[in-house]
Amino acid sequence: MISLRVNGRTVQVDAEPDTPLLWVIRENLKLTGTKYGCGVAACGACTVHVGGNAVRSCSLPLSAVGNQPVTTIEAIGADRVGKAVQVAWIKHDVPQCGYCQSGQVMTAVDFLKKKKHPTEAEVIESMGGNLCRCGTYERIKAAVLDASR
Ligand code: FES
Repeated sequence: MISLRVNGRTVQVDAEPDTPLLWVIRENLKLTGTKYGCGVAACGACTVHVGGNAVRSCSLPLSAVGNQPVTTIEAIGADRVGKAVQVAWIKHDVPQCGYCQSGQVMTAVDFLKKKKHPTEAEVIESMGGNLCRCGTYERIKAAVLDASR
């Protein structure tokens, strides 16, 4: 058993230390808002926060998490910036199929916590690593900029 702090709760998980955090979140904890896209840290669908930083959970072994708090999309609305991003996402009707959106939101929240008043170019750059097959990039950009105001 490995102890983890996820969304403010301490949980015990029965998993090998080299198990990617994504599978612990989805399979052990049944928090299925975090998605599997590529599995090789290339798409951003699996983004969660570990120790307050956006990470790609498909490529982070459980052993690397340690005592750092983990936050997933299920709890991001409890955060002030997270709530602002959620409200902006709804206002701008961002998702199309929705599959990549939890990762997009988690990346956006991390970015806005570190950059209070970003330029449009900074938003584009910061979100550039999160892929959206539907091409909702314009709405993502608009929502991130809106949430920053
Ligand atoms: Fe982790 Fe694509 S599933 S980056």
